[in-house]
Amino acid sequence: MKYKKIVVLTGAGISAESGLNTFRDMNGLWNNHSIEDVASLKGFSQNPHLVWKFYSMRRREAGSAIPNAAHHAITASLATLSDRGSSCLLITQNVDTLHERCQNKNMRFGNFGDPKCIAFCALHGSLNASDCVKFGAVFTDRNSYFDDDGNADVKNIEGLFQSEKYPELGINLVATSDGLPLSPCCNSLLRPHIVWFGETPFGVRECGRALYGCDLFVSIGTSGTVYPASNFVSYARDGRALTVCINPEPPANASHFQMHIHGKATEAVPNFFEKFAF
Ligand code: OAD
Repeated sequence: MKYKKIVVLTGAGISAESGLNTFRDMNGLWNNHSIEDVASLKGFSQNPHLVWKFYSMRRREAGSAIPNAAHHAITASLATLSDRGSSCLLITQNVDTLHERCQNKNMRFGNFGDPKCIAFCALHGSLNASDCVKFGAVFTDRNSYFDDDGNADVKNIEGLFQSEKYPELGINLVATSDGLPLSPCCNSLLRPHIVWFGETPFGVRECGRALYGCDLFVSIGTSGTVYPASNFVSYARDGRALTVCINPEPPANASHFQMHIHGKATEAVPNFFEKFAF
């Protein structure tokens, strides 16, 4: 067994071939939207309608996308590696839930180092959840509250679970005001469960610990521009891991990687795991 502690980081590029736009490529999400308007708490406070229109659209797009060969190759390879005794952590900056939807009988989420588990961290949150702005309660929420024309769309709104793990705890009905969803806990606004600029990503401490101790770090489909994920390669190198970058073009942090594989995720990722990881 070559590698005992493996960390994989993914970015928007891994979902490009599932039909989802990246952020910074041509026609990327940030070409058509101002980050301040749709990805900051200030933007949400000033114009929650605009923010919910943007995330409603993204929920619909992600909901109709399906995991591609790269998502599946990561899941299958890490499941095999963890079954054979390696500790595996999958970190994604993506909120599209395509990794989560690859879960199969071989994939069990757990903590880094738990036997026969893949630890998983959705660093920037998830399109499948919303938070109460007042109390921070998190609800499973796949609703699209505005349609493609930006009109409030209340026809198909489904109730929210407070815990996806325990759906039997009950469904909370979601009320809306002027098309905006209100939290079942206190009628304050709900916001998307997304880490916006200026906010702290989820699981950073756990990721840092795993990165310092890993012996293989693989970064896939990310431009290497957004902190803290852009620094993960340095943490892994400080811990003496082999650092591998899989991307069609060199990312901004390219000089920190020891191995570069230029290519699209659906081809390069399955090839890499087949040839190098076992
Ligand atoms: P970017 O849009 O910045 O970068 C996407 C990367 O994917 C680029 O380096 C592309 O070259 C590469 N790429 C494009 N097509 C690909 C393919 N078929 N296979 C593999 N790679 C491909 O996306 P991220 O680096 O993920 O944060 O962006 C990081 C964060 O910036 C996002 O999570 C988001 C954004 O602001 C938040 O919203 C908090």
